[in-house]
Amino acid sequence: MKILIVLILILFGMEPKLPYKQQDHAKVIIVYDNYQFAPNTIADWGFACVVIKGNDTLLFDTGAEKEILFNNLQAMNIRLNDIHKLVISHYHGDHTGNIFPVLEVNPHMQVYLPSSLDGNFRIMVENYGAHVVCDQEMRPVGSDIYLSGEMGFQTREQALVIRTDKGLVLLAGCGHPGIDRMVKKVAKRFGEPVYMVMGGFHLEDYGDEELEGLIAELKKLGVQKVVPGHCTGTKAIQRFAREFPDGYFKSGTGRVIEL
Ligand SMILES: [Fe+2]
Repeated sequence: MKILIVLILILFGMEPKLPYKQQDHAKVIIVYDNYQFAPNTIADWGFACVVIKGNDTLLFDTGAEKEILFNNLQAMNIRLNDIHKLVISHYHGDHTGNIFPVLEVNPHMQVYLPSSLDGNFRIMVENYGAHVVCDQEMRPVGSDIYLSGEMGFQTREQALVIRTDKGLVLLAGCGHPGIDRMVKKVAKRFGEPVYMVMGGFHLEDYGDEELEGLIAELKKLGVQKVVPGHCTGTKAIQRFAREFPDGYFKSGTGRVIEL
């Protein structure tokens, strides 16, 4: 009956009113982390997460050990064949370790590599049949999902940025350029504040005063929610939990963050 009404409206040149489509919400599933969150998942040094938003399913970094990544994907009911895009934050092995095992299962992904992996590594990825983009540029990689563009001086790193109705969400692999600097740069490049930061913040060597200054800076920049994991360091994670009583989420394998 509904179809008949729509056809009649179209025949008479009237546009049928379609139901309001809510903006697709994003979901981030952590599948490789130094900490365990969900049962049946395994923790290990490294980072990887899956981002699902509308028709886009991306893998951001790949962790280190094949058995651990594959176990965690299975535990979270994620099939590699359903993942269309792979983003690598930076060249370190705890993030790139499973690129080839992933491509063996799903060779035709769109892969975004940092510029430090240009050359032989890129050719090896392309030899699987993957289409590779390898540069330092900020660019869209899905619906409201972006590469930040590379940042930093020593270990150049790119983050993933998701635009939500609450603000920008920044996913950092390791935070080598400085997590506060990354937040600042992304806010400037996108012209809006970062409200949530996830991933590795690289603060193991930070003392109390440095942590205090960094957290104050993040708050000043508009950060309201944090999911510090991977290389953040246990002391820093505890501090974040205290300083963001309503905005701290424990990171770990199997953690699902709804955006
Ligand atoms: Fe790392």
